[in-house]
Amino acid sequence: MLSAWNIDASQFNGDWSFADKAQFWLRYAALAPSAHNNQPWRCAIGEDYLDIYIDLRYTPRTGTLRQTLISIGAFIENFIQAAAAFGYEFVVTDIPMSVKREDRVARLQLVGSTDEPVAKHRLEAIMSRHTNRGLYKATQLAPSIITALDDLELEQRVIAISLQDSQSKERVAALVDKGVYIALSLPPLRRELSDFVFYQREGSCYGLQVESMVQDPPQAESGKQWTLKLMNAKAEAQFSRKKFASAPVLTVLCTETDSPAIWVSTGQSMQRIFLAAASYGLCHCVSAAPIEIPVLTPVLKSILETKLRPQVLYRIGEPVNSEFTIPSPRRKVDDLL
Ligand SMILES: Cc1cc2nc3c(=O)[nH]c(=O)nc-3n(C[C@H](O)[C@H](O)[C@H](O)COP(=O)(O)O)c2cc1C
Repeated sequence: MLSAWNIDASQFNGDWSFADKAQFWLRYAALAPSAHNNQPWRCAIGEDYLDIYIDLRYTPRTGTLRQTLISIGAFIENFIQAAAAFGYEFVVTDIPMSVKREDRVARLQLVGSTDEPVAKHRLEAIMSRHTNRGLYKATQLAPSIITALDDLELEQRVIAISLQDSQSKERVAALVDKGVYIALSLPPLRRELSDFVFYQREGSCYGLQVESMVQDPPQAESGKQWTLKLMNAKAEAQFSRKKFASAPVLTVLCTETDSPAIWVSTGQSMQRIFLAAASYGLCHCVSAAPIEIPVLTPVLKSILETKLRPQVLYRIGEPVNSEFTIPSPRRKVDDLL
């Protein structure tokens, strides 16, 4: 659960079997962000490769495959970066053109290794990256950080469009407001969300902690009850608007096409940016609603002045309240295999 965030890199032993090494890297992979923190990944370790599948036990019925595969892309990025930190190089192969929910999503193939010393800073970024759903300081990020994030090499065919001017941010924030309001007002969506919300005291190994969604939350019998009975759609939506309008930078990752492979690439690119941002002490917060609610996506495209397909929208910044950066629970590696 929360102990998943404490990984001691010095426990790694280069003499281990491939399977033992892969299980160690999977501990880092498991710290990837996912929609609803549902951790929709399942793995099978081969002779010198790792196969990744969707774990249907943790995939919401109404959630889109896009959200699931972006999350799996982030998981892949963490695995590749963790293995690289120990000197092992993997490449992604075999992403099918059309993934059904039961299919293998990707294979990560080991292609080489070196004796370089362990790159600890890369592992630290994986362990220090967290979502923070509070307000971010409105002051602009340092130009050197903006440049470093802009210069990151993303996966092929993924393009980042960032907005820093108040007018565009305000327009995107208004869409977030609408999207959150719609998502929380539709009973099936609210019920589905409620299956993934828990108070910390409930000790779930997946899902969203009420404490990471609202500061000083009112007490209810369970996270499910809080979501169904106490969460106020209008207030949440309006506060989300304020948080997106005041963040120093909003970014949308876009692509020309829309396919399972491109969703995985988007997730990898997103996670690469989040890890780089984390290494500067910055947090991030995704909002899926303007991407997934069909009437809102064309408006987002017109704000971005692009014909590309928006895939993921997030804000990045320095939290006003760093105590609200709360690590979220994770399933154990045994449960992923
Ligand atoms: C594809 C995707 C969509 C997400 N959508 C939302 C969202 O709409 N609202 C939100 O507050 N967080 C969203 N998140 C953030 C997750 O809830 C968060 O990653 C998860 O709870 C794990 O927490 P962590 O990022 O701190 O490890 C999303 C994350 C991903 C990868």
